[in-house]
Parts: sequence; structure tokens; C-alpha cells
Amino acid sequence: IILPRDVFGPHRHNSAGVDLSDPLVREPLMERLKALESREWTAKPALGQGEAKPVTSPFDNRIRVGTVFEATAADVDAMVRAGHDAQETWDALGGEARARLLDRTADLYEEHREEFFSLCIREAGKTLVDAVLEVREAVDFLRFYASEARRQFTQPLPLPGPTGEHNELRLHGRGVFACISPWNFPLAIFTGLVAAPLAAGNAVIAKPAGQTPLIGALAVDLMHCAGISKAIAQLAPGSGRVVGGTLTAHPLLAGVVFTGSTGTARTINRTLAERDGPIIPFVAETGGQNAMIVDSSALPEQVTRDVLSSAFQSAGQRCSALRVLFVQEDVADGMIEMIAGGMQALTVGDPRELTTDAGPVIDEAAKKALDDHLDWLDANAKKIARIELPESAKHGSFVSPAMYEIQSLNQLNDENFGPILHVVRFAAEDLPKVVDAINATGFGLTLGLQSRIDTVRDFVQRRARVGNFYVNRNQIGAVVESQPFGGEGLSGTGPKAGGPHYVARFATERVTCIDT
Ligand code: NAD
Ligand code: ALA
Repeated sequence: IILPRDVFGPHRHNSAGVDLSDPLVREPLMERLKALESREWTAKPALGQGEAKPVTSPFDNRIRVGTVFEATAADVDAMVRAGHDAQETWDALGGEARARLLDRTADLYEEHREEFFSLCIREAGKTLVDAVLEVREAVDFLRFYASEARRQFTQPLPLPGPTGEHNELRLHGRGVFACISPWNFPLAIFTGLVAAPLAAGNAVIAKPAGQTPLIGALAVDLMHCAGISKAIAQLAPGSGRVVGGTLTAHPLLAGVVFTGSTGTARTINRTLAERDGPIIPFVAETGGQNAMIVDSSALPEQVTRDVLSSAFQSAGQRCSALRVLFVQEDVADGMIEMIAGGMQALTVGDPRELTTDAGPVIDEAAKKALDDHLDWLDANAKKIARIELPESAKHGSFVSPAMYEIQSLNQLNDENFGPILHVVRFAAEDLPKVVDAINATGFGLTLGLQSRIDTVRDFVQRRARVGNFYVNRNQIGAVVESQPFGGEGLSGTGPKAGGPHYVARFATERVTCIDT
């Protein structure tokens, strides 16, 4: 029986996080994080020795965080085979037993959260505020998908109808899923991509991004400590080409769940189309060209606050982040001036400092791509604001938060994954053209609207083809279960992460019909 969602709702609370405004909480935590800085971490493949490589900090490339042993193609092949052999037993455990193990994993994540904070800061360059949010979201994914395993995988669904027979539908795991994750949510998305197929009864090969293997390694260790067997949750650190390419081409694979760039999703799609073996599901969450529309009824202080957090929190490295701000021309000068003023208060620098608002971008390749785009903007757009980098930034991969005015959205081709905000003015009567231009990018992830006019809100909501529409607030930080997250078009296949249809996507449906 698929139980109604409210049976579980009252019993499940999202993670509480940490109150960093309380000095009695904050100061001892900062001391403990300091002590954790001397810890050296390792990430090893589930099978095989791997090839050793140092992992350094994006805010200071002289800091070594640990060592990754990258899996070879032969290691990956052995892992898929081991997962394939073990999966049937995991599926047979049923939804309730799997849910208990995922809940136990969530408890262990909370017990070890300071280690995760330390790694998120040192390996991924996150601020402490973002690191706390990261652990909360990961814990929420585990507990929510556990509740979904209980709801949908505990008992068969009786199928009423006129046939006079007993008909029922059961959900089962499909086999081995490749879970391929990005560096920008190295714990939250990594965990979500692994926990959902596990909840549905699959074995998983968890491939962390090349930049953040150590966080993934601690996560998988804790899954094993919770009681999930080593053959069912296997870590495969390594490059996209070797590990990702071998996994997705493997004939024994039963599905792929991926979050990352649209270009990589296309590559995986091609590999899946050409591989031997059955046709398998591919769930992909990809990039965006996210806009916010501000009309003349919007409240300037609120717009300023929401634009700053949407565009610059996490150094703009959220798939949900604001890239293009459309401002109605009647109010544009004042709005732009306030946002540029607010930007002057942004502190860019070492993410270990609590006062830092924006840390580094993930690596030198990301910095170069963003710096090239800034050069292009210098030649083709009007500079409004660009924040100077501190002296200490010279050892890391930092990009100046910047705001430029452009003539039209058509000037931008790709997602620029960092702290760069583009502004476009529009005339009030052109609102439909603005929404059409946003749709015409082909992306459809997040859209913000700042307006006090209900008919404007309803119009944009009907016309925009986006997955997550935010009104009079920032457009980042979707909350598991309350705000299921994911886009359409070039932004992804769905179903939405943290939503009611997600876990079932990893299952196969089997109907039994008994003539009584
Ligand atoms: P990426 O596409 O470079 O890498 C993502 C993962 O794919 C990594 O683990 C990588 O090693 C792997 N990979 C690379 N080549 C592969 C191949 N040929 N076969 C299989 N796997 C391969 O993305 P990224 O730079 O890590 O992440 C940033 C991107 O992710 C941005 O575009 C962002 O918008 C997107 N993103 C989307 C969401 C969402 O929910 N829609 C969330 C977070 C990030
Ligand atoms: N879930 C993340 C956010 O909403 C991507 O910012």
C-alpha cells in the first residue's frame, strides 16, 4: 500500500542546523574546527588500490587537505559486478529495513557534522554558513528518502478494478545505479543522489566530483558504519572520463542519476545510447540561466537583500543562483545603485573566517573561465560594480564579485558559474517579451520575481517554463520536501530532488495478477 504522505509528515522534522549567532555555540565550534585543520583525509575506491593524488584547498593551493586514490577502469568494472551480485539481497530487505539504515546514517552525519563542516570549508571552499546548510540538506535528504522507502516500498499496492482477480503492484530496485555528483554540493547532492536509489532497493556506485572526493569518502564510510553493506554503497573517486565514462558504458548498469553541467549530461546520454545492455533510466539535473524580474512595485530593500544572496552567496556557485536581473526601467537607476552599494559590503576571502561572505571558486579552471567572461564583459558591457580581491586571494582561486549591465539576454550563451551578475532593463509593457526571452534560453531551473501585483505574479507563473519560481524572496536554498528542486528543458529531466515522485523513479514496477 502506498501510504498517504501525512502519515509520515508529523514524525519527520528537517534538521535544525547550528545557531551561529549564539557565541556559546559558535566560539567552541570555531576552536574545534581549528583543531580539525591538522587532520589529513583520504578517499579510496571500494575495490582496487587506485592512483594517489593530492587534494588541495581552493582558497590556498599550498594547503593539502588529503589524498585521493583514483579508481581505474578495472576497479570500476569490479565494483559494478560486486554491486550487481549483492543487490537482490538489499532489495529483498524491504522498505522499512532500508529506511532504518538511512535514518541511522542521518544520525551519524549529525554526530560527525563538525568533520563535514571542516571538509566543506577546506576541500570545497565553503563558508561555515554554507557548510552548515550543506549538512542540514544532506540529513534532510536521508530522512526524507527513508520516509519515502517506508511509504512506497513496504507493502504492495492493491489495484482495484473490474477483472475479479487479485491485482497488486510492487516496486523493486533495478540493480546497480551510477550516482554521479558535482562539487558544488559535495555532501548534500552527493548524498541525495545515493540515498534515493538505495531507498528504492538498488546498489550504488557513488562517484564524487574530481574536486571533492574526501567529503564523499566520509559520507560513504558513515553509510557503512550505519550498517549498509560495502557492496551496496561503493565509492568510486576519480575523473569524469575514466570513472564516469567506464560506469556509464558498463553493460551491467541499471541506471544513472547525475547532477552537473548540461554538456556532461549530453555526453552521458550519448554513452548510454551506444552501450550494450538494456535501455536504462537517466535522471539528470543540470545547469541554468536563472533570472529575476523586478517591477516598479517591488520593495528596494528587499530586492537588494534577495539579489545579493541569490547572486553572490556561495560565490555564485549554486545551480539555482541568479545570473540575469531584469529591472523595470522606471525604477532601474535606484535599484541598481542600491544593489551596487550593497555589494560594497561583501567580504571576499578566506572561508575559515566567519566574516567572509564569498569564498573562492572551486579551482583554477573555473577561475579562468570566469575571468575570461569578465574580460568579455569589460569589452562589451557597462561595468556597474566589481569588488577588489584581498591580498590573501593570490594563493587561491578567487574571482571578484561583479555586476555588469548588458543590452539583452541574447548576449549570453552559457551559464557563467560564479559571482557575476548581469543586469538588463525592460519597459513595463515588455514583460511578456522578458518571460519569452527567458524561456527561449532553453534552460528552466529557477526564476525570481519581485512584485506586489498579484496579476503580474499569476501571469509570470503561467508563462514561465521553470522548475522553481520564487516570489518576493531569494531564489536559492530549496528545502527538502517543502520545495522539491529541479528544472526542465536544458536544466534537467526531473523528477524533482526532495519531491514525492523522486524515489519511485529508481524502481521498477511489477504487477502480480492472481485468479482466486
Ligand atoms: P560537471 O558536469 O563538470 O561534473 C559533474 C560530474 O560529472 C562530476 O562527477 C564529473 O567527474 C562527472 N563527469 C564528467 N565527465 C563525465 C563523463 N564523460 N561521463 C560521466 N561522468 C562525467 O559539473 P560540475 O562542474 O561538477 O558542477 C557544476 C554544474 O552542475 C553547473 O552546471 C551547475 O548548474 C550544475 N548543477 C545543477 C544542479 C541542479 O540541481 N540542477 C545542482 C548542482 C549543480
Ligand atoms: N538546492 C540548491 C538550492 O536551491 C541547489 O540552492
